[in-house]
Amino acid sequence: MKHPFPDMPAAATTPASEISIAGDDEADESYLGQFIPLYYHHNMLMDENRMLSFKAAIDHAVFEGAKVLELGGGTGVLSCFAAAKASNVWCVEFNPDLVRESQRFLALNPHGHKVTVIHANAFEYLPPEPVDIVICEMIHAAMLKEKLVDVIEAFKQRYRQRFGEHLPVFMPEAMVMAVQPIQQNYDFFGYYAPIIQVQPAYFSHPETIELAAPMVYSTLDFSQPVAREIEWEGAFTLESDCVVNALRFITKNILSVVAEQAATIDWFMGYLALPLAEPVHVKAGDTLKVSFRYLTGGSIRSLENSIHASNVTICDGTG
Ligand SMILES: C[S@@+](CC[C@H](N)C(=O)[O-])C[C@H]1O[C@@H](n2cnc3c(N)ncnc32)[C@H](O)[C@@H]1O
Repeated sequence: MKHPFPDMPAAATTPASEISIAGDDEADESYLGQFIPLYYHHNMLMDENRMLSFKAAIDHAVFEGAKVLELGGGTGVLSCFAAAKASNVWCVEFNPDLVRESQRFLALNPHGHKVTVIHANAFEYLPPEPVDIVICEMIHAAMLKEKLVDVIEAFKQRYRQRFGEHLPVFMPEAMVMAVQPIQQNYDFFGYYAPIIQVQPAYFSHPETIELAAPMVYSTLDFSQPVAREIEWEGAFTLESDCVVNALRFITKNILSVVAEQAATIDWFMGYLALPLAEPVHVKAGDTLKVSFRYLTGGSIRSLENSIHASNVTICDGTG
């Protein structure tokens, strides 16, 4: 995997009302959208990459006696990590099954008694007093499907109205998203199926050929106003003759900034690999132009439908 992200043109923004979401957002919501099934929380608890990143970030950001709010608490695990040092944690969850389960789990853990689970909508809830840190893990690769951006922006607005201008620190503090052309093997025992996939980060992927270094297409800084609209156009120079048949979307969550070490605690999510509707044939040195636009929290289909990828190399007549 080629890291880090090289410099890129800044992402443009378009008013949300002008972006047509050519997807099936409503259908998307009904499974693994906002209502994540209970058994899937086990997968999240087992995800070492996710868990250790959050544990380290919470340990760094939450100070002794801090007041913490978690929006979308699920099983309560991140709230419980925070409770190791915090004096109070409010853990907001709207799925009644998870409200019940998190209360049961928290009672089994040291510090769990410092967490108050609240059955409420994260779009509406305000804590009874100002908080120092807001944790929100409503995050999906490429910031699709899950509603972190909307939830945080709505929260900032009502928090300011109630408690004044000074905002808490958000976890994640920021996020960086990049895109990379790839050639993906879609042959499954003789059956060709160009299918969407999520590839674990930090592992090698023998079925994937990386055709150029990833380019950053968006950075979100939650200490500033964040727009939902993402629109990007960029060009990759391909290093060898190949067929570009997919784009890989890389999402790095900057969970906490460790200023004293000039470092960050990051969580790389699984890479989202989306097959192109039409594979693009390129020769070494050709330029691949890529563009897409979508709304954070929108469906994967809406991003897929907006992707344009073409070989824009001008033929000089010699080859
Ligand atoms: C990706 S899970 C993360 C759960 C937990 N924080 C963790 O890290 O394991 C997101 C959680 O947010 C909850 N959620 C989604 N939308 C919500 C909303 N509008 N209000 C409250 N909770 C919400 C879901 O039910 C789910 O439990």
